[in-house]
Amino acid sequence: MMPVNGDTDEEREMEKFKAFKLTEVEKKIRAEFVEVTLDDLDPGDVVLRVAYSSVNYKDALAATGKGKILRRASCIGGIDFSGTVLSSTDPRFAKGDAVLTVGGEYVGVSHDGGYAAYARVPGDYITKVPPGMSLWEAMAFGTAGYTAGIAMVRMEHEGLKPANGPVIVSGATGGVGSIAVSILARLGYHVVALTGKESESDWLKKLGAKEILLRQSLNLEKIKPLDKAMWAGAVDNLGGPVLAWMASTMKENGVIASIGLAASPQLNTWVMPFILRGARLLGINSGDGSADVRETVWRRLASDMKPPLLKEMCRTIPLRELPGVFDDYINAKVTRRTVVDLSE
Ligand SMILES: NC(=O)c1ccc[n+]([C@@H]2O[C@H](COP(=O)([O-])OP(=O)(O)OC[C@H]3O[C@@H](n4cnc5c(N)ncnc54)[C@H](OP(=O)(O)O)[C@@H]3O)[C@@H](O)[C@H]2O)c1
Repeated sequence: MMPVNGDTDEEREMEKFKAFKLTEVEKKIRAEFVEVTLDDLDPGDVVLRVAYSSVNYKDALAATGKGKILRRASCIGGIDFSGTVLSSTDPRFAKGDAVLTVGGEYVGVSHDGGYAAYARVPGDYITKVPPGMSLWEAMAFGTAGYTAGIAMVRMEHEGLKPANGPVIVSGATGGVGSIAVSILARLGYHVVALTGKESESDWLKKLGAKEILLRQSLNLEKIKPLDKAMWAGAVDNLGGPVLAWMASTMKENGVIASIGLAASPQLNTWVMPFILRGARLLGINSGDGSADVRETVWRRLASDMKPPLLKEMCRTIPLRELPGVFDDYINAKVTRRTVVDLSE
């Protein structure tokens, strides 16, 4: 146990706290609550009280074992967290700083993550919460929102602007998709939401989608090399045939942000959209967080890219309810971001 100087409530609580741990046992994942102390956590320069974590598709893949996400035998889950620094030997952070981490390659995967009341991490893993954003909002975004933010900034960098034409978003009711819809609408784009959930059409319109396109209405069996040119931009969370269809329907110089693989990790497509229409395919990797990109994206998420309905786009659950939410992510039943409250 780390030395404690007094006997405050916080120090007593720190002696033992609840964590949601993932362990690989005979090629399956055992996901369970355990009691840990600070000394059980992986080493790091910064100790913090976690305020919130969140649930992403990747967290669900990790906790259910449906994807090979864990990079070691056992680890506290949760790829995202926000919280307040309690102590730091890294000069960039001081006691009381509000900090966050999202979408990195280590936290919740090969370094103990955010599904615990306390975390201890190297300073390189965290970033300060930008002015204009609360700890809760940081996790309302989480990896999903940060990734949508990177996609937006990268597409703008490639020249995308509202006057270029409509932008389509697949997996629109998911975490990345719903935040992308909202950000694009707020920035003045004509947004087309591509979804498998007709019942969520009104919700997607409320978020700012001008049109709803049902995935079931697409003919993905036979994708043409070049189809009717419709989209100036595309945000793809599915991969597979949907991404191939998007490529064949891009307008001249259209830009696609490839984010996810919720339908398939494979891509079978034609070169015509790229060499005849100048379409561009941008790979978006939330783990590739140079300090510059991180700072720009978080600053914009706290200001002109903040969705007006961010509160309504999330539900907040206590840590104890976490095990019950993962299957819905795997079965594409989720329509809100899930923020996990670590205060109890
Ligand atoms: N590149 C990166 O750094 C990065 C970062 C974050 C996430 N991701 C990836 O991006 C994707 C979306 O993440 P998320 O957190 O938004 O996930 P999510 O909240 O679970 O949303 C995914 C959405 O995709 C659709 N969907 C799910 N399964 C599907 C299937 N089998 N076939 C067709 N559509 C399906 C559903 O939307 P509709 O019902 O509305 O169609 C679902 O709501 C995931 O693949 C995730 O791994 C990548």
